[in-house]
Amino acid sequence: MSTTKKHIPETLILGNDSIDSEHDVLFSLFDKIQNALDNSNYMFDFEEIIGELVSYVSFHFKNEEKLMTKLGYPNQLWHKKQHNLMKAHVHGYLYRFKSDKESQKNIAIDINDFIKTWLINHIAKEDMTFANYMK
Ligand SMILES: [Fe+2]
Ligand SMILES: [Fe+2]
Repeated sequence: MSTTKKHIPETLILGNDSIDSEHDVLFSLFDKIQNALDNSNYMFDFEEIIGELVSYVSFHFKNEEKLMTKLGYPNQLWHKKQHNLMKAHVHGYLYRFKSDKESQKNIAIDINDFIKTWLINHIAKEDMTFANYMK
């Protein structure tokens, strides 16, 4: 039985419940960032949210990669390469955030623009291809 996904756009539901649930968690974090920006209390909230996002991105990529290895997915090297590029970007944002040279608000806006857009494209292409392979 599939669980309700509250945050992920319906067009990005792949039909694999564990992957869809993890994607939904990632989108819930983007929603949290947007709420923090809208409520202008991001100075407090943002540190917690970006920490959650960094660890959840790694957690999710690792789970997807384990599944690809287990199922002998032929495109796994390419897919893992995309994950590694994204992890580098996420850590770049974390570094910028911690270096305190720019405002947290700018980084939050960048994260919602860049990482969310990247994730939407990645799910629609690479994750979708993997989900179709699993079916
Ligand atoms: Fe994914
Ligand atoms: Fe992926």
